[in-house]
Amino acid sequence: MLMRYSGVTGIGKSIVLVGMMGAGKSSVGRCLHRRTALALHDTDQIVAANFGMSIPEIFAEHGEKKFREAETEALRRVRTEEQTIIITGGGIVLRNENVEILKRLGVIVWLDGDEETLFARASRKKNRPLLQTKNPRKSFSEILGARRSLYANIADIRVDTSILTDEEVALAIPAKLRRMNPKPESPIPAKAS
Ligand code: S3P
Repeated sequence: MLMRYSGVTGIGKSIVLVGMMGAGKSSVGRCLHRRTALALHDTDQIVAANFGMSIPEIFAEHGEKKFREAETEALRRVRTEEQTIIITGGGIVLRNENVEILKRLGVIVWLDGDEETLFARASRKKNRPLLQTKNPRKSFSEILGARRSLYANIADIRVDTSILTDEEVALAIPAKLRRMNPKPESPIPAKAS
């Protein structure tokens, strides 16, 4: 069941998932984890565990700045020598230090999609503090507008998730990575058994 990604990403290189809220980073990350058995790090989960509270509670009680500091601290602690899957929060690209760390950690996969689809997914659950505004649709549009170029600048590959299932995205990622860095001696099975 175990498959190695070393031939695709380079030895020791992790798969880093970035993208806007609603892009599917967490669910795709979990699919990749099941397929590869690589360890999984999720910066939101690490931050929430460190505070002992949910992300909305952290924003409400400590503010966004403290959340961002904790997010950077969580990234700093991810071990670079281990090959893993790293799920990030949508705002991870806002700090230069984060971007530098992510680049060192591995290949950066931008999960993107059309704005309506991303918003529909992101607003399904009420757990995104940045969308708890009078006009969440407008807030989403502004945030996405400010971030698209940041995701584009950092990404090694981009996957449009708009019409794909999480499993399909999890398959598209290694396929794209393989095209980027073909190593016939390290084939990746299409499906783990
Ligand atoms: C944020 C995205 C969230 C979470 C926090 C801030 C953002 O993660 O980190 O609410 O700034 O886009 P998801 O991208 O998993 O929703």
